[in-house]
Amino acid sequence: MCGIIGYIGKKQAYPILINGLKRLEYRGYDSAGVAVFNGDVHVYKRKGKVQDLIDFAKGKNIRGTMGIGHTRWATHGKPDDVNAHPHTSGNGRLTLIHNGIIENYALLQEALKKEGHTFESETDTEVLVHFIEELQKRDNLPIEEAVRVALSKVVGAYAIVVIDRDDPGKLVAARKASPLVIGIGEDEFFIASDPTPIAEFTQKVVFLNDEEIAVVTRGGDLQIKTIDNEIQTPFIQELDVKIEAMEKGGYEYFMLKEIYEQPKTVADCMRGRINATEGWIKVGGVDTCKDRIFDANRFIIAACGTSWHAGLIGEYLFEELARIPVEVEYASELRYRNPIINEKDVVIALSQSGETADTLAALELAKAKGALCYGIVNNVGSSIARMTHAGSYIHAGPEIGVASTKAFTGQLTLLSMMAIHLGYERGTIPRSYYLQLLEELENIPGKIETLLEKASDQIEYIAGEIKDASNALYLGRGYNFPIALEGALKLKEISYIHAEGYPAAEMKHGPIALIDENMPVIVIATNKSAYEKIVSNVQEVKARKGKIISIVKEGDTVIRNLSDYTIEIPDTDEPLTPLLSVVPLQLLSYQIALMRGCNVDQPRNLAKSVTVE
Ligand code: G6P
Repeated sequence: MCGIIGYIGKKQAYPILINGLKRLEYRGYDSAGVAVFNGDVHVYKRKGKVQDLIDFAKGKNIRGTMGIGHTRWATHGKPDDVNAHPHTSGNGRLTLIHNGIIENYALLQEALKKEGHTFESETDTEVLVHFIEELQKRDNLPIEEAVRVALSKVVGAYAIVVIDRDDPGKLVAARKASPLVIGIGEDEFFIASDPTPIAEFTQKVVFLNDEEIAVVTRGGDLQIKTIDNEIQTPFIQELDVKIEAMEKGGYEYFMLKEIYEQPKTVADCMRGRINATEGWIKVGGVDTCKDRIFDANRFIIAACGTSWHAGLIGEYLFEELARIPVEVEYASELRYRNPIINEKDVVIALSQSGETADTLAALELAKAKGALCYGIVNNVGSSIARMTHAGSYIHAGPEIGVASTKAFTGQLTLLSMMAIHLGYERGTIPRSYYLQLLEELENIPGKIETLLEKASDQIEYIAGEIKDASNALYLGRGYNFPIALEGALKLKEISYIHAEGYPAAEMKHGPIALIDENMPVIVIATNKSAYEKIVSNVQEVKARKGKIISIVKEGDTVIRNLSDYTIEIPDTDEPLTPLLSVVPLQLLSYQIALMRGCNVDQPRNLAKSVTVE
């Protein structure tokens, strides 16, 4: 939520900042702004997308080799030009960008008003920059010291970058609970919310830790201190991010590209981890803390959004294959009750970004209670990856479309591997079934490819038939119940059609009242178990004249004959079905959103990385 970028070096800063903001736009697109320094600080900011900022700044004084930029997801104050970042201190000396929430801003603002400060915006960020200015003035502090003292009095979350007009050879950055990474180039530094704006310039980065303050100096070095004034040695890491992975590569939208990347990303997730011919499976993270995982009393899976849906499928997988009891929790709920968690529990956090505030907080709580914390994360070096005891990356590459697709199938692939591995090692599945699942898992990328090739025209046609609906119902049983939830979420997120996912049998307890000839009902009916039951559910929808769109396995005739439209997926073992059945639903939502003229990659009000509560 909110993307921030900073540059200091020999190049012109403005193009780097704008390019960086475009890469970070998935984090928020309510407004965008930059500040460039060339003797003085020039701030340009605009409500709307980065393109609106570019149009606004055209022809203006944008030269300079140092600057900062921000793309906003509004928390305090409406999305408008005044609330857009950067924000400037009262005396005009300091300019600051911020991602996060300063929770005690109202108290600070009261005190500052008494000192004569006046505020233009409704933001907590403007209060922060005035507060830093006040401390700097009062004790005549260098900027980095004023930032440090200010942050020691602030409650909340922040990633910030500050320019001091009167000390212009440096940028000062700090973080707590919002991500920040520093790129180290030749005589230049980059600061950003994630590595995507940095990777094309340098692969050498330092991920800042919570409560650390970094100072990058023109022609100098990077220095890091904690808020408690302790000097830290920067830990430099090499990125492995390819530029192509961050481009649309000929697709109209990132989401479409990411849907079509899934045969590759699922294969990448498995690479080096399984070999069906030799009959082995290795999940590095599990092996590093094997005993605690094997002896766990239960797994608790904590996640948000699409990752929570993957967690629900994890529950089915671990319980069926490895016979380990599982609870799946919304991270935001887990953290605010008083959960019973102890050292015999394993808490698995699922997160594409690795930065979701609620998931992080839930993990911190679990850690404090002695549980083993395991992270299943996409973004390398992210906060969850660093704060967990062990974990596994899903290796899906940068996911930029706000609606998650390839990260979801990556999470499912990883969970499937873990469950198969644990099931076999714990003796809860026989070797023959274990080998069959391994082989089938290796076949999944090819099956997704076939499915995309065969079904895309049919999906586009169905999208055209139902695109004007106001509501939609998604039904599934067993492994396909979470897929119904995910299908409904995808439709809501990007096409703004109200949709609900339900366990098929639960339909009779309420949603059935809504079904009439205007209601598309998407039934995911690829199950082998409970097949007859789902046939009955489809009959019930048909009797109420609902428009039935069924997802079935190839060769199915019974449900096909009851349906208005049918999409076939290749057959596979039931625990692996979600890896296939979700794909047509992703594509269906995409096509419907496109036909409704929606911005697929940047749906209204959403952001990809939710770093505030
Ligand atoms: C936001 C995104 C979703 C994502 C969720 C959890 O709501 O729009 O796509 O599933 O956050 O994010 P995470 O990065 O933790 O998976």
